[in-house]
Amino acid sequence: MIEKINEAKDFISKLINNQKIETMIILGSGMGGFEENYDPLYQVDYSDIPNFLAPSVEGHAGKLSIVSINEKLTAILSGRAHYYEGYPIQDLVIPVRAFSQLGVKNLILTNAAGGISENYVPGDIISITDHINLTGNNPLMGKNFDTFGPRFPDMSEVYDKNFINLAKKVSKNHFDFKTGIYAWFTGPSYETPAEVQFAKRIGADLVGMSTVPEAIVAKHAGMSICAFSLVTNLAAGISKNPLNHEEVVEIADQSKKKLQGFMKEFLTELNSDN
Ligand code: HPA
Repeated sequence: MIEKINEAKDFISKLINNQKIETMIILGSGMGGFEENYDPLYQVDYSDIPNFLAPSVEGHAGKLSIVSINEKLTAILSGRAHYYEGYPIQDLVIPVRAFSQLGVKNLILTNAAGGISENYVPGDIISITDHINLTGNNPLMGKNFDTFGPRFPDMSEVYDKNFINLAKKVSKNHFDFKTGIYAWFTGPSYETPAEVQFAKRIGADLVGMSTVPEAIVAKHAGMSICAFSLVTNLAAGISKNPLNHEEVVEIADQSKKKLQGFMKEFLTELNSDN
């Protein structure tokens, strides 16, 4: 595994002439095309990067763009592979681990999620404050890489409070600021109403099929993390209607401008702060 991570890291390092990258962002549903807001200095398909998995889901392009924001290099990863696509969990997190070894400090994650909280409506953007891993799997299982981080990493503050405060400040120009706890299910089937009620009772506000594996390995490697969910639907049983992927994609498309406008300002502020 370490060889796979290093191959990816060396490829990217060569691509950008060993320059330093400050921040990386992984774009989920609703953020496709965000990189087009910038003039990329470098751009490459995941399929050309050793050991990067090409996503198979609509709305996930599979492209790495390196852009300059406030004179700091930022890696924009358009699309991610998911656990439900059948890949080993350790392979899904190679991009985050490769960038962590390149010295990237900040990780921004975005996803589409089902809303459980009564405070949410479809189209809301939620700043994630914590997560619950309901999959029974963990990307750190197996041999620990001591140079990345400890065997038993602390997870008491995965999502950086300073970043959440920054999101609160920036959101004033874009939407009502809301926070929530994200429960990770494997998918690809949506949850049953009983599973959603279970998630609600144990404290979850959102359900989704991504983000948590990347957050775990990033925290292990000492990165500062923040994550945002776009609520594309009310979760099963809370919504009166059956769920379908087309609805998720439609709401994601409708909310794209709002989320991308916010994210542009958020990244500019982030890269000026530290
Ligand atoms: N559940 C899981 N993942 C999702 C959902 C959902 O309701 N909506 C968008 N992604």
